[in-house]
Amino acid sequence: MRLFNRATLLSLLFAVSALLLAGCGQSESNSSGGANAVAAKKPKSTYTIGMSQCNLGEPWRVEMNAQIKAAADKHPNLQVVFKDAQNDTLKQRAHVEEFVSAGVDLILISPKEAQPLTEPVAKAMDAGIPVIVLDRAVLGDKYTCFIGADNKKIGHAAGEWIVKKLGGKGKVVELKGLMTSIPGQDRNSGFRDAIAGTAIEVIFDADMKWLEPNARQEMESALARFNKIDCVYAHNDPGAHGAYLAAKAAGREKEMIFVGIDALPQEGVAYVQQGILDATFQYPTGGAEAIDAALKILQGQTVPKKIVLGSRVFDKETVAQGGRPLE
Ligand code: FRU
Repeated sequence: MRLFNRATLLSLLFAVSALLLAGCGQSESNSSGGANAVAAKKPKSTYTIGMSQCNLGEPWRVEMNAQIKAAADKHPNLQVVFKDAQNDTLKQRAHVEEFVSAGVDLILISPKEAQPLTEPVAKAMDAGIPVIVLDRAVLGDKYTCFIGADNKKIGHAAGEWIVKKLGGKGKVVELKGLMTSIPGQDRNSGFRDAIAGTAIEVIFDADMKWLEPNARQEMESALARFNKIDCVYAHNDPGAHGAYLAAKAAGREKEMIFVGIDALPQEGVAYVQQGILDATFQYPTGGAEAIDAALKILQGQTVPKKIVLGSRVFDKETVAQGGRPLE
C-alpha cells in the first residue's frame, strides 16, 4: 500500500514537472517571433521592444526617442528598452545582436550607416524578430517596415527653393550629411537634380557627417578659399548653424543665405524666426508612427513595407503660419 502511494506520488510529480516544462517552452517560443510568426502566436500581456538609436548627440534624435516613449507610454502592454550607440557603428551592431539574444518581441532601429547595419538587421529577421527601420535605411529588403520622409524629394525642394531665391544663378557651398547613410546620399542627389541646367554652381562641398563642429570647420575652409559665397545648403540644421557661426566669425554671414533640413521647433524653425537660417525643410522623426506600426505587427496585422512621411518648408514667408507642405 505504502509502495503504491510512493509510485503515485512520483508519477504525479513527473506529470506536474512535465506540465511546467511544457509551459516554459511555450513562453520561450512566444518571446521570439517574426512578422509572419507573430500572427500565429498567442497574444502576450506585455511586449518588449528594443530601440537601437545611432546616437543621442543631436536634438533631432533626442526628439525621436521622446516621441517613441510618449507613444509607447499610452500602451501599458508595451515596454521599450532604449540603447544609444553613441555614433559608433560597431556598438550599434552589438546592440542589435544583444536585442536578438535577449529575445525582444520587436526591434526598432535608426541605423548610423546603411551597409554595416544591414547584416544584423537581417539576422534579427532570421531569428524571427520583426524589425522596423527608421529614418536611415539599410540595404536590400530584409526588414519588416521602413518609416521615413522622402529625402530625395526634400533635397530637390531645397534645390528648387535655392534656385528661385538666388534668381537661378549663384555660388553654393554644400555641406553633406554622412555619405554612407541614405539620407545624405538622397539629399545630395535630389538637390543636384534640381539645380542641374541652372547657373547655380556648387563651388565647395564636404561631408560634415551630420555634425555641427565638422560643418563649422569645413565652412572655415570654404570661406578661406572663396571670397564670394551666395548660399550654404547643409543637409541638416546643425550643419547650417555651424556654417553660419563660421561665416559670422569671419564677419561674412550677411553675404550669403543659409538653408538646412530638420525643422525642429526649438532648433531650425527657431533659427528661421531669429533670421539665422533663411529656410529649413522638415524631417519628421517618425517616432509615433513607429509605435503605431509596432503595435499592428505585434497584433499580427500587416503593415506597408514603406511608410513615407510628409515634409514642410519653413522660410521667412511661411514660418509664422507653421510652414508650407511640400507638394
Ligand atoms: C540626426 C540627423 C538629423 C538628420 C538625420 C538624418 O542624427 O543628422 O539631423 O536629419 O540624422 O538621418
